[in-house]
Amino acid sequence: MTMSRRRVGALDLGTAKTLAVIGEVYDDGPVIVLGVGLAETEGVVRGAVSDLDLAAATMGQAVREAEKSAGIPMPPVFLNVTGGHIRSEEGYAADTISGDPPDIKMSDIERLIQKIRNLPVPPEEDMIHLIPNEYALDGISGVHTPLGMAARRLELKACRIFAQHAPLQNLIRSADRAAVEVAGLMVQSLAAGEAVLTEAEKQEGVLLLDLGEGTSDLAFYGHGAVLHASVVPIGGYYFTRDIALGLQISRSEAEQVKKEHGTLLRSPADKPSAIHLPVLGGQETRRISSSTVADILEARMQELCSRLKRNLAQVDMSDLIPRGLVITGGGATLNGIDKYLTREFRLPVRLGRPNYMEQLPERLQGEDAAAVVGLLRYGIRQIISLPAKQKEAEAVRNPSEVNILRGIRRTLQDFFR
Ligand SMILES: Nc1ncnc2c1ncn2[C@@H]1O[C@H](COP(=O)(O)OP(=O)(O)O)[C@@H](O)[C@H]1O
Ligand SMILES: [Mg+2]
Repeated sequence: MTMSRRRVGALDLGTAKTLAVIGEVYDDGPVIVLGVGLAETEGVVRGAVSDLDLAAATMGQAVREAEKSAGIPMPPVFLNVTGGHIRSEEGYAADTISGDPPDIKMSDIERLIQKIRNLPVPPEEDMIHLIPNEYALDGISGVHTPLGMAARRLELKACRIFAQHAPLQNLIRSADRAAVEVAGLMVQSLAAGEAVLTEAEKQEGVLLLDLGEGTSDLAFYGHGAVLHASVVPIGGYYFTRDIALGLQISRSEAEQVKKEHGTLLRSPADKPSAIHLPVLGGQETRRISSSTVADILEARMQELCSRLKRNLAQVDMSDLIPRGLVITGGGATLNGIDKYLTREFRLPVRLGRPNYMEQLPERLQGEDAAAVVGLLRYGIRQIISLPAKQKEAEAVRNPSEVNILRGIRRTLQDFFR
């Protein structure tokens, strides 16, 4: 028997940093990381491309570095999508099942998924994912694996995730400009979820929060699938800026203060300590109180939490409430954030690190690499040839990517004609 080797690329364009990874897999064996590239991001604001050339240069730099360390060219990449324009909405379709007795076949499910795919999409948006959530058989809901069951009438509820057309175009144009071929797109929170969540968490109900530099990406999973995804355009950038403005110090000083002295963990008994900041160009130091920094961080955190709660208020949780919250992304390492979120959301909170590949290089083991590892994992799943049975099982439950790239590229060509 010959082994088949497949290669896949992952590219996470963040607001602070960009990671590119080249992975390889033999048959359905473990993923081997061949190369990693890292670049400081320019040309991205709150997750969205703000300058095509700078964003392209950033992508190019990360990709080139990954190619150099792998010694091979970058395969087509799976690319993350984020920004405040991401939203999700339920889609519904129903159909009758033929046959005597009427048993549900893969073609019945595909027909329903296609019906939801064909539902109208607002003109300024593209559907990025369509995730089958729950089936109802002759009016009895709560079915998740309907294949082979009997029913006259089959209904499907799905989670549809949309992104605005213009920022999506700009993301793809940046990749084009960097000569990076895009194989597929994935919403940031789903990518992070792929890397850090366990199957049990996804089944029981869990909130996933990726706290980055420019955005906080939220997803809610239950019964093994994604039920909601949205983005709050507030990230670590704002915490740093608040400190810089509040203490009249530079952004880079504020970033250092945040990382070294910032905390959301305070008890009334705590005595504030002094932070000594060097004064520009002199031997002197300026003394600021740790509690001033904590006040600033808390105020911004409070705002972020209320925005997240507002997004979650739109989710119908009558069937399922989350059992826990998993935080990841660079912002998850802010001291005390887990305790703070436990109190705010009244849920157990844990930190999420990429959890699956035995041989993940050091740079991909931290919270801030969750998204790129998830993209790699998702990409591999898209390209390896699974046994037919497994493929069917996946199609019934897993996020399928709506093949929008072709449509987008056509529009792109129209634009240049
Ligand atoms: N120890 C830390 N304490 C607080 N914030 C941190 C810490 N380490 C990283 N961050 C913050 O995490 C953010 C970067 O996270 P990351 O996930 O890499 O962002 P992005 O993917 O948007 O580029 C920055 O705002 C940075 O200040
Ligand atoms: Mg990120």
